[in-house]
This record gives sequence, C-alpha cells and structure tokens, in this order.
Amino acid sequence: MREYSIAAIPADGIGPEVIAAGVTVLESLQKRLGDVRFNVETFDWGSAYYRKHGVMMPTDALARLKTFDAIYFGAVGAPDVPDHITLWGLRLPICQGFDQYANVRPTKILPGITSPLRNVGTGDLDWVIVRENSEGEYAGCGGRVHRGLPEEVGTEVAVFTRVGVQRIMRYAFRLAQSRPRKLLTVVTKSNAQRHGMVMWDEIADEVSKEFPDVTWDKMLVDAMTVRMTLKPQSLDTIVATNLHADILSDLAGALAGSLGVAPTANIDPERRFPSMFEPIHGSAFDITGKGIANPVASFWTAAQMLDHLGERDASARLMRAVEKVSGVGIKTPDVGGNATTKQVTDAVVDAIYSSNE
Ligand SMILES: NC(=O)c1ccc[n+]([C@@H]2O[C@H](COP(=O)([O-])OP(=O)(O)OC[C@H]3O[C@@H](n4cnc5c(N)ncnc54)[C@H](O)[C@@H]3O)[C@@H](O)[C@H]2O)c1
Repeated sequence: MREYSIAAIPADGIGPEVIAAGVTVLESLQKRLGDVRFNVETFDWGSAYYRKHGVMMPTDALARLKTFDAIYFGAVGAPDVPDHITLWGLRLPICQGFDQYANVRPTKILPGITSPLRNVGTGDLDWVIVRENSEGEYAGCGGRVHRGLPEEVGTEVAVFTRVGVQRIMRYAFRLAQSRPRKLLTVVTKSNAQRHGMVMWDEIADEVSKEFPDVTWDKMLVDAMTVRMTLKPQSLDTIVATNLHADILSDLAGALAGSLGVAPTANIDPERRFPSMFEPIHGSAFDITGKGIANPVASFWTAAQMLDHLGERDASARLMRAVEKVSGVGIKTPDVGGNATTKQVTDAVVDAIYSSNE
C-alpha cells in the first residue's frame, strides 16, 4: 500500500465546497485502485480563523504543513477582510515559505465545454502556463511613506534575480521538452521595462542553449493577449513573470470556458517541501453556499497532485472521468449546464468506479 499525507486547507467562500468534492473523488480513487491511500487532514485556517484569532493561520503553520506530502488548497478571500491580508496571511506565505517557485497552470478545452472563441474546440487550445512564483512583481518589496499626506508615496518594486529567472526558465524549457510539440513562448515586456525584463530575456536566451530541441519564441505581454485570442493553436508551453502569468492565466481559463475549470500547482521542483495544489479561482462570493460551484478545477488540480506524487495511473483515471462527465453534458451553470456541484461529483465518482481502463 502506497500512502500519502495530504493537508487540506479549504479556507473561504466556495473553497470548502470544491475541496470537499475533491476529497470525495480522491476517496473513490482510493477504493477503486485498492493499493493507494490518501490520509487527508483538514485545517480550518482562513478568514473565519482570522476573525477569531487575528491571524489567517497559526504561527507554527508551516512547521506543521512541512510534514505532509502535498497541500490541497481551496481559495482565500472574504468580503469583510481586505484581500492583501487574506492573500499575504495564508496563500503567499505557504508558496514563498516552501519555495514553490514554479506555478504550473494547464489549460485545455474539455469535451462538452464551449470556448467563447469562435471555431475553437477541443484540441485547438492545449497550453501549460508556467508562472514564476517566488519573486518578480509579487516579491513584496516596497513601502509607503508620508501616509495620508498629500506627498504620500507607495512603491512596489519588481525583483528579478539571476537564480530566480534561471530556475524558472529551466523548468519551463524542460516542461516544453517533455510535451509532444516541444514549443515554448517566453512572455516579456522588455520594450518598456528595460532592467529586470531585459535580464529575463537574456537568461531565456542563455538557458535555451541547453535545450536545442525546444523551439522557442518571445512575445510582449500585450501582444500575447492578442495571440492567445486569435491564434490559440500557435501556443503550447508558456513562461511568464508572476504578474504577467497571473493575468494571462485568468484569460486562459476564460478562453477554455470558465475559471471554474482552471487548475494550478505550486511546485517545489527540488521536492524539499510539500507542493500545493489549488483551483485558480477565488472564493466566488456570488455563488457561495448555492451548491453550484464548478468542482472541475479542484479535480484537475488533484490530478496534478497525483502526478506530482508519482501516481500517474490515478491521475490519468481521474482526468478520464472528468472528461467523460463533461463530455456527456453533466456540467455546472458557469459552463452552460444545470448540474449542481454534487451531481458533477457523483458523476465523476461513478465514472471512476465504472472505468475498466
Ligand atoms: N487563489 C485564491 O485564493 C484567489 C484567487 C483569486 C481571487 N481570490 C479572492 O477571491 C475573492 C473573489 O475574487 P473574484 O470575484 O475576483 O474572483 P473569483 O474567482 O472568486 O470569481 C470570479 C467569477 O468567477 C466565478 N467562479 C469562480 N470560480 C468558480 C467555480 N468554481 N464555479 C463557478 N463559477 C466560478 C465566480 O462566481 C465569479 O463570478 C476576492 O477576495 C479575491 O481576492 C482568491
């Protein structure tokens, strides 16, 4: 029996709904496969914890999480707690504390899901966006002086280090190399940002020499939005800075049908620490508690987690089940269906049990 310890942090809004659905699906895989066990421990950290204790998670949180094989995260954000507190109090300290520097965001149009792009269907859009996840525009470097006075100043400094850029470029080139098309697009903004972004371009060029079999090109981030929309077939693996990839991957999620199907993995490629798996979406106040949150992003990120743990068979089974269910039209309202979270989850569980592959 192969056993894995998983720390679940459902947190806020629809986070608990989609993580509960994901845990149900993991349990069904465990039963179906018989030789693997997922020991899930759930932590109640998030905005409710903050209202009670004044912090989003306890001070020893990272020490406790460190003992797990992986972290399965829902979403943070509440209408009555400022976003910079929720984000910097929970999600970012985990990503940064565990040096999860590669944020991996696959996007494709699942069967049965209609892209808002005309004439673009399953197979036309199949990307993986690699987001630098440890520095850049979200390094947290900056400050405010003369608060509240007319001369107040706020700075937000983007920090790019040679080590940081080199390691994300290597990760992206290696990932591109492992995919059939061996195609990488490096997103930049070196026309307007002439320091960090020019270094980013130079390091991409240097690292590319280590991967002669990968075809790569460079795109300014503004032009990239146009290419993603008008020529989605021309892209495969994409690498971008923390901010650029944050924005581009929301666009990618929307082009693939809904944010509700978009997953992400925060990976420590060196495996010194547990990696963290989560849907891209936030806590979605508008649909919280209605039972209609799309659980597909949380299933897909669970599949990424299984892959990372080396459980490739379980991962492939889960994705086959998800694609089968979306293909027969069992879908939540955000992707044009009328099923509930529970109905989609039950259908995926059934597909896992009934599959003989
Ligand atoms: N990683 C995170 O935890 C994360 C990411 C983004 C936003 N947030 C936070 O979430 C809160 C709400 O942010 P927002 O409204 O900008 O983004 P959001 O992702 O929560 O919602 C955007 C829209 O997408 C829809 N949506 C999102 N996930 C869905 C799902 N699974 N099924 C169906 N529809 C879905 C929502 O209903 C909403 O209309 C804010 O506090 C924000 O800071 C957190």
